[in-house]
Amino acid sequence: MIRLDFLVRPISIEKNFSVGLHIEMNLGLFIELCVCLCYSCLDLVGSWRLCSLRNRNRKPLCFTMKETSPMLPSNRNRNQPRAVRPWPLAGMDYPDTRRKPHIIGKLIMAVILTAFCILILKQSPGFMATSVFSQHEPGVTHVLVTGGAGYIGSHAALRLLKDSYRVTIVDNLSRGNLGAIKVNRIFAENAFDAVMHFAAVAYVGESTLEPLRYYHNITANTLVILEAMAAHGVKTLIYSSTCATYGEPEKMPITELTPQNPINPYGKAKKMAEDIILDFSKKSDMAVMILRYFNVIGSDPEGRLGEAPRPELREHGRISGACFDAALGIIPGLKVKGTDYTTSDGTCIRDYIDVTDLVDAHVKALDKAMPNKVGIYNVGTGKGRSVKEFVEACKKATGVNIKVDYLERRPGDYAEVYSDPSKINRELNWTAHYTKLEESLSISWRWQKLHPSGYSSQ
Ligand SMILES: NC(=O)c1ccc[n+]([C@@H]2O[C@H](COP(=O)([O-])OP(=O)(O)OC[C@H]3O[C@@H](n4cnc5c(N)ncnc54)[C@H](O)[C@@H]3O)[C@@H](O)[C@H]2O)c1
Repeated sequence: MIRLDFLVRPISIEKNFSVGLHIEMNLGLFIELCVCLCYSCLDLVGSWRLCSLRNRNRKPLCFTMKETSPMLPSNRNRNQPRAVRPWPLAGMDYPDTRRKPHIIGKLIMAVILTAFCILILKQSPGFMATSVFSQHEPGVTHVLVTGGAGYIGSHAALRLLKDSYRVTIVDNLSRGNLGAIKVNRIFAENAFDAVMHFAAVAYVGESTLEPLRYYHNITANTLVILEAMAAHGVKTLIYSSTCATYGEPEKMPITELTPQNPINPYGKAKKMAEDIILDFSKKSDMAVMILRYFNVIGSDPEGRLGEAPRPELREHGRISGACFDAALGIIPGLKVKGTDYTTSDGTCIRDYIDVTDLVDAHVKALDKAMPNKVGIYNVGTGKGRSVKEFVEACKKATGVNIKVDYLERRPGDYAEVYSDPSKINRELNWTAHYTKLEESLSISWRWQKLHPSGYSSQ
């Protein structure tokens, strides 16, 4: 199948949300492209052509046809205002036509190029209304994975593809990596059966600095997704939530009935999104699963994917990223904040869930999702591990004696957080298998070592 990669655009979940990471091609654009080609052929000798096609958001998609002589028509200069140029046409800019010799030869060339254009476009999945992605097919579940270029979303997409789900990824690449998208298959014009909504900005520290961004990106965009799902009759939602919605509960372990009192904008934005989903689900027959993850670590055991946050996010980063950066020598060492908590060794305790187990929970949730029902589940191992334990496991996994500085507590950190996963064990028949920190970290380390600059190392 021929892909028109130059027309593939990453898509953002914002107000004008359109479903699918599209091959952005429709009939209008196709006609424009053909007309553009014809004009270019008719004027092949002695002129330069920049065809400015516009997509449906009216943003130009530009490409150069040929450059053999000055860019501008001879009857105007660059300083002339656009409005008085002699050649505007809606959606396409072209210079004044001039009679040229060899018109028959050029016409033939135009016909050949147009035929070539039709041939390619007809094979583009985005062009054909009958693409398999545009129709529901009995026995095939088509899942929209938002945030599919991100750490967890890319692992989920890979697993869904392995399990023969039909997958479409939407990601604005603000945080994710195009390299991650490339391992998945991207298709256009979709008839989704389900949405896994991973897309989000997801750093607690950053959320305190940019709260509005977090409410917009998490809460408002979840609303947009729900509206799109309602409009397109998509009936199943698997939502990525977080233990940060619980805040600082007094009692451990955390069950799904533990009161939610988030203490930072990230947790609050996710809680609001959950509330919107719950309110909406009362009035619809949507099947909803809300998964509240604990601290996610690990990567694909086959080494195809890993966690590669943008370098600029390092300061907000997660402990595993910091350990690997220290082991790779990217940062001089680790800074562990707080050694006087009322825990066994004085450092904070967290519940680390491996991403492979996490995506397994998603597949099980998708499988068990029922119309008119909302399932809310903690996804954790049920075991708390201290930061010191984590660092020791990381030293063993990497074989590097990482330098550690022990500092004062960081404001806003809570001493101990770990899950009670018995509800998901019981109802979805899900259990965490990767419960050895060192094993999960060794798998990640293999990928990190091969990709010291993330996906750009490929
Ligand atoms: N990593 C964890 O430990 C953890 C814990 C609890 C919950 N979660 C949740 O899991 C989900 C995935 O997290 P992650 O760790 O993979 O983060 P990530 O940053 O690696 O991935 C998020 C992806 O969403 C994309 N995205 C963000 N805003 C978007 C938008 N408006 N439109 C389209 N794409 C957009 C980003 O480009 C990125 O690829 C998030 O919802 C996060 O809140 C993560």
